[in-house]
Amino acid sequence: MANIFLWVFIFSFSLIEYSYADSRFPILRDSKEQVQQGKLLYDQNCASCHKKNLSGTKDWRSVDSDGHTVPPPLNGTAHTWHHSDELLHDIIKHGFNNLIKNYHQWFNLKYEIVYFFNVYGLGQISNGNMATVLGIFEDQYKKNKPLTIVKPGTQTRRFTHINDTIDVCYYAWKKNRSKHYSISNRKSYTIIEVAKLFNTKIKFLPPREGERYASALTSMNLSNKVYKMFGKIDLKDYVENVVKNS
Ligand code: HEC
Repeated sequence: MANIFLWVFIFSFSLIEYSYADSRFPILRDSKEQVQQGKLLYDQNCASCHKKNLSGTKDWRSVDSDGHTVPPPLNGTAHTWHHSDELLHDIIKHGFNNLIKNYHQWFNLKYEIVYFFNVYGLGQISNGNMATVLGIFEDQYKKNKPLTIVKPGTQTRRFTHINDTIDVCYYAWKKNRSKHYSISNRKSYTIIEVAKLFNTKIKFLPPREGERYASALTSMNLSNKVYKMFGKIDLKDYVENVVKNS
């Protein structure tokens, strides 16, 4: 077990939710009020995938056309029954962080957790649901189309180059300390600022539900210290290069 090395990459979009999770509020299964609140939360946040009646996807061992696993039923017909309510609650509330921490203590599992922030550069996805801002802009720029910005465009992001990101993963692995790291950039850009770097036409799209207005990692409640690392590559230089070479 000691040789098993576990990487956990948690993308920055999950951090906002994560940073508000804490254990000040115990779950009380016999509290009608909490059960009611839970139902409301489920309907708002989970039912879109796991279905209102918990039935999830019938063929839950399959994958969708993009190769992603599909939402399993949560009604006991899939495999949630393998886990205690406490464990499920822990996973949902803290992500896999707590689970990994426990495995570290119990079995000396080695891990390094690296939080990514809006990674761009070689290999980025330029279309479809998983496309990145830079991927989309570069694609539009090369096709001579206006760059599309979801309103208001003042959302800020800490765009971090893939090379800087890889450097920190490598550093974490070399150090071998079973710690948490974040790799971002000291400079944050609004989406409008990024688009302007391309010096071309811009088109605004209607605002989207659930938009994040900033990417941030708060130190509020992480029981593990996060080593905050910052990349060297500036987005401005990167975009200038893209423009020059197109
Ligand atoms: C965008 C779709 C989506 C949403 C929204 C979503 N889930 Fe899931 N959920 C999944 C998928 C897909 C899996 C399977 C993941 C895997 O197998 O790697 C999963 C797995 C799970 C599991 C583990 C099931 C098992 O058998 O071990 C639980 C528990 C769960 N989700 C609860 C929730 C809860 C609670 C919410 C709302 C707070 C939620 N999910 C919201 C897609 C979703």
